[in-house]
Amino acid sequence: METVQSIKETRELIKSWRRNGYTIGLVPTMGFLHEGHKSLIKKASAENDKVVVSIFVNPIQFGPNEDLTSYPRDLEKDKITCDNAGADLIFNPQVSEMYSDNAVTSVTVDEITEGLCGAKRPIHFRGVCTVVSKLFNIVTPDRAYFGEKDSQQLAVIKRMVSDLNFDIDIVGCPIIREEDGLAKSSRNIYLSDEERKAATVLNKSLNSAKDALQNGERYASKLAHVISEKIDNEPLAKIDYIEIVDSVDLKPVCEITSSILVAIAIYIGKTRLIDNFTWNFK
Ligand code: PAF
Repeated sequence: METVQSIKETRELIKSWRRNGYTIGLVPTMGFLHEGHKSLIKKASAENDKVVVSIFVNPIQFGPNEDLTSYPRDLEKDKITCDNAGADLIFNPQVSEMYSDNAVTSVTVDEITEGLCGAKRPIHFRGVCTVVSKLFNIVTPDRAYFGEKDSQQLAVIKRMVSDLNFDIDIVGCPIIREEDGLAKSSRNIYLSDEERKAATVLNKSLNSAKDALQNGERYASKLAHVISEKIDNEPLAKIDYIEIVDSVDLKPVCEITSSILVAIAIYIGKTRLIDNFTWNFK
C-alpha cells in the first residue's frame, strides 16, 4: 500500500490501474480512522479491484467556531488501519495541493442542505460537496463509500452525483456502534469518561423512538417528544436538533406516511455528536 500526497502521482497510478482494467473504489475520510471507516474500506475492497482512501481534513467544511485545529489526526495509525482493511493507496494531500489561493469555484447543493446539520452549519455542505467533487475528479472511482451515520451528507452526495451526472455509484454503509450503542465517531475522543457515559443517551433516545414507531405512533411531533424527554433527563446533554424528515428529500414530515429519517444532534459538554435511523414505512 502506498501513500501519496500529490494529485499528479495519484492520477498516474489511477491511469496505470485503468490500463489493466481494474475497478476502483474510493473511501473519502478525514482520517483518525475507526471501525466505521474500516468497514467502508473492507466493503470497498470486496467490491473493487483497487481501493483508494483519501485522508484530508478539509478546512472549507468547518465553520469559524468549529474544531478544525483540534480535529484529531494520527496518520501512522491510519496507514496500518488502511493496510489491514485492504486499501491500495492513501491519498493524503496538503491543503495547498487541494486548494489554490485563487480558487473561486465551489459546489452547492440547494434544498436538502437547508435543514438538519445544514441549518446549524451553514457552510458545511458546500465544503463537503466541493472537496468530494474534487476527489471524484482526481480518483475517478467506479464506487464511493460513505457511512450512514452522516445521513444528510450521504443524501446530499447522492443528489449531487445525480444532478451533476458523476458516473459513480454511491454506496451507503451501516453505522458501526460501540458495545453500549454509541455510534463510532472520530469526535468521541473529545469526551471525558463522564461525558462518554452520558453520550449513550443518543442511541437510547433513538431506540425509544423506534419502540414508539413499533407501537404504532405516527405523529412526528410525538416521536420528537419521546426523544427529547429521554435527552432532557441526561444532565450533560443539550439538544441541537431532533428532526423527523422524509428519508429521500429530507423535508420535515408531520404525519408518518412514508419512509422517514429520524436524525438528532446533541451536545455532550462541548462535543457535538450526531446519530440517526431510517424507518421504512410498510
Ligand atoms: O465524512 C467525512 O469524513 C467528510 O465529510 C468527507 C466526506 C471525507 C469530506 O471531507
